[in-house]
Amino acid sequence: MTPQAPRTIRVDLAGRAYDIVVGPGLIDRAGALCRPLLAAAKVIIVSDETVAPLYGRRLVDSFEKAGVKAALITVAAGESSKEFAAFGRLMNGLLDQRPDRKTTLVALGGGVVGDLTGFAAAVLLRGVDFIQIPTTLLAQVDSSVGGKTGINTRHGKNLVGAFYQPRLVLADTDVLDTLPKRELLAGYAEVVKYGLIDDPVFFAWCEANGAGLLEGDAAKRTYAIEQSCLAKARIVAADERETTDLRALLNLGHTFGHALEAETGFGGELLHGEAVGAGMAMAFDLSSRLGLCPPADAARVRDHLGAVGLPLRLRSIGGDNRRRWEAARLIEHMRGDKKAADGRLTFVLVRGIGQAFVSRSVDEAALRGMLVDAIAA
Ligand code: NAD
Ligand code: GLY
Repeated sequence: MTPQAPRTIRVDLAGRAYDIVVGPGLIDRAGALCRPLLAAAKVIIVSDETVAPLYGRRLVDSFEKAGVKAALITVAAGESSKEFAAFGRLMNGLLDQRPDRKTTLVALGGGVVGDLTGFAAAVLLRGVDFIQIPTTLLAQVDSSVGGKTGINTRHGKNLVGAFYQPRLVLADTDVLDTLPKRELLAGYAEVVKYGLIDDPVFFAWCEANGAGLLEGDAAKRTYAIEQSCLAKARIVAADERETTDLRALLNLGHTFGHALEAETGFGGELLHGEAVGAGMAMAFDLSSRLGLCPPADAARVRDHLGAVGLPLRLRSIGGDNRRRWEAARLIEHMRGDKKAADGRLTFVLVRGIGQAFVSRSVDEAALRGMLVDAIAA
């Protein structure tokens, strides 16, 4: 079979526009693809302890073949690398490589490595260029595009960061072959999100093709990544800094999801994408309960997310932990979410599949009732 040709999607930002290239075999072509964008023939690749042994050497070789000097720095895999102390160690590790303002950082990994490296690039020597080479489905369809970078503090996730756009995103679809199934499924929730926000035709495509994509159909994966990146590029180009409600729509499922993640400790018990999946089902349920959305649409969303295997029932999260969930605690986490303005809860609600909107006036009694029912279900 002839390998698919890569597809290029432009993120159209005045003065800072960049391409997202989606396709197979891009790690081995990265040096040649990046070289024209580099201010100097020197890059520092940041990766994690799982991804570096899989793809680090090939990426270094690809840069060196293109005449670019490449160093590789490895951080621990997982969210702990977004802590302040880990960030400090990374900055010193980067400075050990004697970078100058023309050095480019390359993020090779999932959303953790991308967020961390992007923020490091924003502040290293007051700002150097960076390139994203996302290796999880979540990072390929969401976190590597749009320039949100940052790290975590004891006050919460991503509360220290910068809007800082990459110069290029290379989404090599082959690397998803080594991604654990659970991580692939978590990333798939973010794919479905684009259909639910404003593209009912894409949601119907997900219903028909999601299982095949998750079983490894390369053409379906590539199509889903392209459609997701097209949607994200369009939204980011229109509202880069979330100054209108447009980019905020990308937070569909996130207010609920954030509360679930906060309660489960932002770790392996509930992955970010899993939390978004459960959160989107809850956003549809709340919208239906408020009379905003047809109950049949909420049922369709729950059916699809459940059918592909995402954990939706609260009691299925972290084992038989039913007693741990309390509506009041979940609401407190929602209030602490950085999307809440002036203490008002902010939700992305829906009028149906593909009709998301931002609401800052949710009736708290209805919310509480919905959460009590979700805990009991
Ligand atoms: P992750 O980066 O922790 O990756 C998940 C796991 O998969 C890690 O253990 C990693 O080592 C491993 N892995 C990555 N690629 C692999 C591959 N190809 N083969 C085998 N293993 C691989 O998690 P994630 O889900 O990619 O990202 C989550 C992070 O992204 C969170 O910190 C979240 O806050 C952030 N995020 C940021 C944005 C944004 O817009 N900046 C959007 C969504 C999420
Ligand atoms: N992932 C949400 C955003 O990029 O705005």
